[in-house]
Amino acid sequence: MKNITLIATATFGLETLVKQEVKALGFEDLRVSPGKIEFDAVLADIPRANLWLRCADRVLLKIGEFTAVTFDELFEQTKTLPWEDWITRDGRFTVNAKTHKSELRSGRSCQSIVKKAVVERLGAAYGIDHFAETGPDFTIQVALYKNVAQLTIDTSGPGLHKRGYRAAAGDAPLKEPLAAALVMLSFWNQERLLIDPMCGSGTILIEAAMLARNIAPGWKREFASEGWPSIPTQLWQEARQAAETAVQPGGNLQLFGYDIDPAVIEIAKGNAAVAGVADDITFATKDVKDLWIDRQYGIMISNPPYGMRLNEFQEMNKIYVSLNKMLRKKNGWSLYLLTADEKFPRYFKRARPDRVRKLYNGTIKVNYYQYYGDKPPE
Ligand SMILES: C[S@@+](CC[C@H](N)C(=O)[O-])C[C@H]1O[C@@H](n2cnc3c(N)ncnc32)[C@H](O)[C@@H]1O
Repeated sequence: MKNITLIATATFGLETLVKQEVKALGFEDLRVSPGKIEFDAVLADIPRANLWLRCADRVLLKIGEFTAVTFDELFEQTKTLPWEDWITRDGRFTVNAKTHKSELRSGRSCQSIVKKAVVERLGAAYGIDHFAETGPDFTIQVALYKNVAQLTIDTSGPGLHKRGYRAAAGDAPLKEPLAAALVMLSFWNQERLLIDPMCGSGTILIEAAMLARNIAPGWKREFASEGWPSIPTQLWQEARQAAETAVQPGGNLQLFGYDIDPAVIEIAKGNAAVAGVADDITFATKDVKDLWIDRQYGIMISNPPYGMRLNEFQEMNKIYVSLNKMLRKKNGWSLYLLTADEKFPRYFKRARPDRVRKLYNGTIKVNYYQYYGDKPPE
């Protein structure tokens, strides 16, 4: 089968996790750079990587990489690449460009140079000078960093965060790969109780349920490369079939989601139903101030409001005080909290955080405060 190179892109701070995921899919010799995990693969891995990577943003197919300090070099070298191996005669293709710390500073110029070179290459390969553009979609990405141009085609289409289960979202929902990452960075496993007391549209708990039941995050959606003739349909069918067979039955999970807003609780229930995990999670309307926990050794993962608006300060105070009161004497409980509010550790007095990870929620810099509880007895 054809040897190819794939790149899983990752949000800043999640590279290590995506690397682990890629490794778990059986790939070796991974090349990690900021925001990217590159690995050698074969065609059948395009469906597999798209269907299974929980924390990655996209899967890109690498077409070539070279040094380019002039537009001529960019043009000529782009033209030497085998675009016709992938882009069909009737293909509809667009080019996106970004450049950083490079001589070629204008993304827009790089974009049109690359487009022109690909058009020339395909024109010569197919013997045409008019492109019908009625066929499958191809999004070419040119990324220049320190004068090295990396040219890829996006195999995913819409970002991998679009799992297909979130028809509706509450206020400030977490992107699904970040929610999955919060769960994977915690010590939660399917034997243990997990609560999100400010669950909004339920993303953290839905991702936890999917993880526990081995549900491939991409099984409810389609990918741009599903329409490419270069990837036999059979490979997609086999990968989807394998994903279906891999699903574990639910039934024993202890996942609980609460929120003060009854409307978002309804949204969370709807999303969980579409994701196929409705029976694994209990959702209810509750103010965190009224939440009382009488169980031991549970795990709390949450993403409270960030209290960025002035009038929210008092409300945030009350939430922090409630969390502190609830968990202060419960040494068996672990707390994992994602917030942009750096005041949080001052309110949670049980101990200093065991670990603080810097992450990004979209463009907002956030901290993931991790307080580890005692291990449950064997
Ligand atoms: C940032 S959002 C959580 C988003 C969620 N992680 C998601 O992916 O949809 C914060 C949530 O906290 C809820 N909230 C605010 N104050 C609360 C309180 N006192 N008790 C419980 N929930 C509260 C809000 O209704 C909102 O849904």
